[in-house]
Amino acid sequence: MSDARPSGAVLALEGVRKSYNVGTPTETEVLHGIDLQLSRSDFCALIGPSGSGKSTLLNLIGQLDSPTSGEITLLGVPTSGLHDDERTLLRRRALGFVFQFHHLVPAFTALENVLMPLMIGHGKPRPDDRERAQTLLDDVGLGEHAHKKPAELSGGQQQRVAIARALIAHPPLLVADEPTGNLDTQTADGVFALFRRFHETLGCAVLIVTHDPRLSDRSDRRITLVDGRIAEDTAGQPSPAPGPDAAAKQT
Ligand SMILES: Nc1ncnc2c1ncn2[C@@H]1O[C@H](COP(=O)(O)OP(=O)(O)O)[C@@H](O)[C@H]1O
Ligand SMILES: [Mg+2]
Repeated sequence: MSDARPSGAVLALEGVRKSYNVGTPTETEVLHGIDLQLSRSDFCALIGPSGSGKSTLLNLIGQLDSPTSGEITLLGVPTSGLHDDERTLLRRRALGFVFQFHHLVPAFTALENVLMPLMIGHGKPRPDDRERAQTLLDDVGLGEHAHKKPAELSGGQQQRVAIARALIAHPPLLVADEPTGNLDTQTADGVFALFRRFHETLGCAVLIVTHDPRLSDRSDRRITLVDGRIAEDTAGQPSPAPGPDAAAKQT
């Protein structure tokens, strides 16, 4: 697999369609031809009503499911023709995925959970893997909780572990499906701030599904999905000018 990224695009979707229950009387198309490009400089919110296809789209991008037609190109590699093992390798190299429910392994410590993607990749963790996992836990404010099991951590802390886990393999693209949907406002703000910080420090593209307008308003780019189609994409549009009371609001 080559790592050609002539356009700097991390991700490109062309004419992506997805139907469920194909070939049955209940066949339904839920994504009707999605075209989308993301580069490393993108910090995007994916918004839209419930049922509009956001999770379906994220699962396709995350290589957890395949489109019915169309092409998804990750790091310059068209994915439609890949075999399962090639797809798995590309997914590991290209993507960190954060879910609404963190999916941590209960029997593992926070540190072991963060190391998991690497252990799946090459078995026993190397000393520098452990160091990086500890650094990521430090970065998400959980350095002192590295030895704790998920049940000993709060919901917000568990989600922070899941973010550290998503970043352990240095992915150029971080996708998250309602990662703050389960958290109170203040905890959600803290988790969102982490995505922002990692986008800036690690230079990874970020795509976050959120229902929270406070968070989508703080994203650089907003992609709105309605009934399986992109209804709006603010890419390339200038940010709205701050209103006359913006300064007052910041105090
Ligand atoms: N596995 C599935 N089988 C059949 N229909 C599905 C499946 N997953 C999602 N859908 C349908 O696809 C549509 C989009 O769902 P989803 O992507 O979960 O939307 P969102 O995440 O925006 O709420 C919905 O109508 C949903 O019922
Ligand atoms: Mg969803």
